Amino acid sequence: MRIVKDYCSKAISYVFPEGEESKNLETVKALYVKLIEEKFDRHDFIIALGGGVTGDLTGYSAATYLRGIDFIQVPTSLLADVDSSIGGKTGVDFDSYKNMIGAFHMPKLVYINIDTMDTLDLRQFNSGMGEVIKSALIKNASFFNWLEENIDAIKSKDKEFILKMIYECNIIKKNVVENDPTEKGERALLNLGHTLGHAIEKYMNFEMMHGECVLVGTILAAIISKNKGYISEEENNRIISLIKKLDFPSLPKDLDYDKIIMYTKNDKKVIGNKIKFICLSKIGEAFITTDITDEDMKKALEEYMVTGR
Ligand code: GLY
Repeated sequence: MRIVKDYCSKAISYVFPEGEESKNLETVKALYVKLIEEKFDRHDFIIALGGGVTGDLTGYSAATYLRGIDFIQVPTSLLADVDSSIGGKTGVDFDSYKNMIGAFHMPKLVYINIDTMDTLDLRQFNSGMGEVIKSALIKNASFFNWLEENIDAIKSKDKEFILKMIYECNIIKKNVVENDPTEKGERALLNLGHTLGHAIEKYMNFEMMHGECVLVGTILAAIISKNKGYISEEENNRIISLIKKLDFPSLPKDLDYDKIIMYTKNDKKVIGNKIKFICLSKIGEAFITTDITDEDMKKALEEYMVTGR
């Protein structure tokens, strides 16, 4: 705030409770009230200082207040650094439908300071790793190899490695978003691990973090890709063994597969009644398919529960 005040005639703050429970239209409404009371106009801008929820919610408020004002992303979580702060996807959840209300609204600037990594607990850090591994898997095999080789240094939050890792993810995201800003095609690849990941997030009542569910969803997408013959057994094993080097919660033993599969149908990634699923054709290359059946997902969930966690 002190630094912002040095550059702006006036700076005010609006703080809301952390977590997915705040990512809704009520919080947006309270922010609109604050902006109106403080007489924000189109020359003003909002800074999103926080993790993915803060960035998405602030971005959506900026996109809709006075038909759109500027905003700046200052991510403080690994997940926001590597994924959600970049590319202009903004939004909130609606009832239990994740990111159902939103807008594409590019931030004017994304400022990442890796010292914020020191503020993250292990769960938050590993949650961000879900999006890191996803990024490598869809676009960059040598980055995936590098992650395999350096996972211990990354887990110890060695700054040199963290910097390279975030930078590589940012380049992947930048290239994908520049080619397809409004997700008419290629951008959907960034949803690897998210179809089943979002369904599990909802099934677990949002008690698991988003990136933790992406880690599980990415394993499931790898298992499906292997079972369909798109990737080899060896590639599948490499993906699972890298992800298993991270700590994340186990799924309950009595997992209701049908309920999870039902939740995938409520996802935004559905065309007609067909799920737009992201599979891997190899490590570093992904594709969109509508050929994944409920049976494929069920089989992968069963396999996950036997071999997974
Ligand atoms: N987080 C996925 C995307 O920005 O498209």
